[in-house]
Amino acid sequence: MYDISKFSVKNEPVILGIESSCDETACAILRGRKILSNRIISSAAEQAKYGGVVPEIASRMHTEAVDEVCRLALADAGLRPQDIDCVAATYGAGLLGALLVGLSFAKAFAYALNVPFIAVNHIRGHIAAAYLDKPDLKPPFVTLLASGGHTAILCTSSYTKFSILGGTSDDAAGEAFDKCARVLGLPYPGGPSVQKLAEGGNACINFPSALVKNSQVLRFSYSGLKTAVINYCHNAQQRGEELNGADVAASFQRAAIDPLVKKTVECALACGVKTVTAGGGVVANSYLRRTLNEACQKAGLQLILPEKKFCTDNAAMIASEGLNQYMAGNFSSLDVNAAAAIPLK
Ligand code: KG4
Ligand code: ZN
Repeated sequence: MYDISKFSVKNEPVILGIESSCDETACAILRGRKILSNRIISSAAEQAKYGGVVPEIASRMHTEAVDEVCRLALADAGLRPQDIDCVAATYGAGLLGALLVGLSFAKAFAYALNVPFIAVNHIRGHIAAAYLDKPDLKPPFVTLLASGGHTAILCTSSYTKFSILGGTSDDAAGEAFDKCARVLGLPYPGGPSVQKLAEGGNACINFPSALVKNSQVLRFSYSGLKTAVINYCHNAQQRGEELNGADVAASFQRAAIDPLVKKTVECALACGVKTVTAGGGVVANSYLRRTLNEACQKAGLQLILPEKKFCTDNAAMIASEGLNQYMAGNFSSLDVNAAAAIPLK
């Protein structure tokens, strides 16, 4: 019988992580923090035909890919299923049907191997990506989290605990990038397209900053910025003026990212921590990476930036968070269900 009270914690466990919350079916294997394999089968090209993620297509493609992606990850690592000490998988937040594929596969795998199963909060996975870049990273540190679903600044006090220092009141930064891309007629996924266009532009348009001014607590808002970009483009169109898309992209990027960088550094200094990390798809943005690096250097803070492939959705970050929970003995029961929305905690 599968009994989680019988499992014990091993040193340097081999953890297989599975991620299927959106359009990437991913599997990675870590020994401790060492990455033995990291595979992704993406449905992004298929989704691009529809201009965004179609949940039903995502679920179907996960079903087709989950077995194969795990076989590939095992083969790359040169391991057999019985060499795995723990299976970790994303249980939320994300698309329900998509989550269910990876989660159900992972639970069945853990049950068959009779090893601990760990249900991972996707957002904690993005934070734990920093340990992949620096395996000996130790809390406390301040994290800038910016993805398609979340935007927040957090303080991690131990391997399993963090507090929220500030966040967005409406859209996430990644969502704003995707909407800006749509209004500029750029292809899905929006973030990389906006970044590319912005490289040839000047940030000469004064869009409203994503920072909420005169707020008692640290808040960001992307809805005003989004509306300003839409209005700017529509007004130009109505006047029959030629739109300089590169300038719009560069100006949007500055308004969206500068306050995140500034506030992350201020939070780190206010909390008295010496290290800043970052995670989530928007952290793959080269303007964010450059400006955060410059700001941290100026403030005398150490910056741990995961490689771009560990900022966007991947399974190595899920296995990395799995390790945090495993070492704390936080094994999950097999009745845990997928959840489309979970609080950031
Ligand atoms: O973390 P992620 O892969 O998935 C979620 O958990 O949401 O983040 C996806 C978001 C998308 O909104 C995408 O447009 C954005 O990250 N993104 C970027 C870049 N690459 C991905 N945004 C700005 N610049 C990029 N290079
Ligand atoms: Zn994500």
